[in-house]
Amino acid sequence: MDNFSFSLPETSLLFGKGTLGQVGERAKRHGSHALLVTGKGSMKKLGFLQKAEKSLKDAGLKVTVFEGVEPNPTADTVNRGMKLGRDKGCDVVVAIGGGSAIDAAKAMAVGIGHADEDIWPYVVREKETTNRTLPVVAIPSTSGTGSHVTWYTVITNSKGEKVAYSSKFIYPKESIVDLGIVSAMPQGVTAETGFDALAHVMESYLSAGASPVTDLLCLRAMELIAQNLPRAYADGKDMDARYNMALADTYAGMCITPSRTIMVHAMGNVVSGIYPHISHGRALACLTGPVMRFNIEKGDEKIIARYCDVARALGEDVEDIDKETALKSVDGVLKLLRAVDIGTSMKNCGAKESDVERLTDYAIRYGAGAMGCNPVKASRKEVIQIYKESF
Ligand code: NZQ
Ligand code: MN
Repeated sequence: MDNFSFSLPETSLLFGKGTLGQVGERAKRHGSHALLVTGKGSMKKLGFLQKAEKSLKDAGLKVTVFEGVEPNPTADTVNRGMKLGRDKGCDVVVAIGGGSAIDAAKAMAVGIGHADEDIWPYVVREKETTNRTLPVVAIPSTSGTGSHVTWYTVITNSKGEKVAYSSKFIYPKESIVDLGIVSAMPQGVTAETGFDALAHVMESYLSAGASPVTDLLCLRAMELIAQNLPRAYADGKDMDARYNMALADTYAGMCITPSRTIMVHAMGNVVSGIYPHISHGRALACLTGPVMRFNIEKGDEKIIARYCDVARALGEDVEDIDKETALKSVDGVLKLLRAVDIGTSMKNCGAKESDVERLTDYAIRYGAGAMGCNPVKASRKEVIQIYKESF
């Protein structure tokens, strides 16, 4: 019976089919000139960018489009968007795309609101993020990061330092999940982003910041992902599966702000900083098994019991509560990864074992919050060992 606290962000969520058409009305609540931020081209190719632009204009807003946010967005890209938004006088930022476009948009909202030229001092907290931050409207095109309901933005600098930074001022004010958009995801993106959502809830459930509220959402999301990710992967037009994945992604996002993630994310985030071609979900897939084994090996009874819950939620038979049963949670994860064709070797992703020391330093420095929430404290030597296992 632990004490806990839980707060709900000021995000209005609209969820379902064809909801994109309401972006104009929703954005109008917050401003009159939208900076419309998107990725490298998928949203334009599929016509969703144009639909968003039309809805905004129909509602009477001016629109300035910023295209080209890359996966694992960089501070340079954010700075370019900030300049454009400032020059044009934008007062609301609308993101349509994956976690990368949404995160870049959140950071642009900070920079434009504070009339600044460089986002990095805010990311590393040398400058304070305040209520001058512009309002953000988020329209996710993937089901994985939960960024449409979190207070995080994850940005990489030119040295490959990838930092997750948070502020209550960057919660999106409006979040619009349209199943038509997420159902356009190709197979690989579906699989890797879906695994990100699973990692969020498995980590949140094991985190020192877990609470009965997040536990409930986590267990349900684990079941939804175990049952629906293989279906969404096999048939992208399976709308029930898409609905359930988008729901699980949203539950997961609602969990990782209050409970935070654990060592998997601390170690995984920095991988895509040094190797931008390795997607966030892929990095997590390589590290999840080794971290789970470490936590189960070193964990006390409570941690063992929690991993048994994870195993059950993933569909494994759970009768006893012991170490052996807890390890079934790893089997459940590996089965799911195989079902959606995601490999688990960092070497096969193109990472180099000679970078392990640097990865470890970055994970300890930039992932301190998530490291601190890991249920078992890991030494530097143990972090190195876990990275090595992921090769
Ligand atoms: O760039 P475009 O052309 O749009 O293509 C993207 C990109 O190539 C494509 N894509 C996305 N939605 C699509 C689609 N293609 C077709 N149809 C669609 N519906 O998929 C590729 C990957 O997109 P990206 O946005 O990079 O993926 P994801 O959503 O996984 O976002 C990853 C970023 O989010 C951060 C990660 O670190 C990473 O930088 N995260 C953000 C979090 C947060 N803000 O709370 C928490 C997460 O743990 C995560 O760290
Ligand atoms: Mn993640």
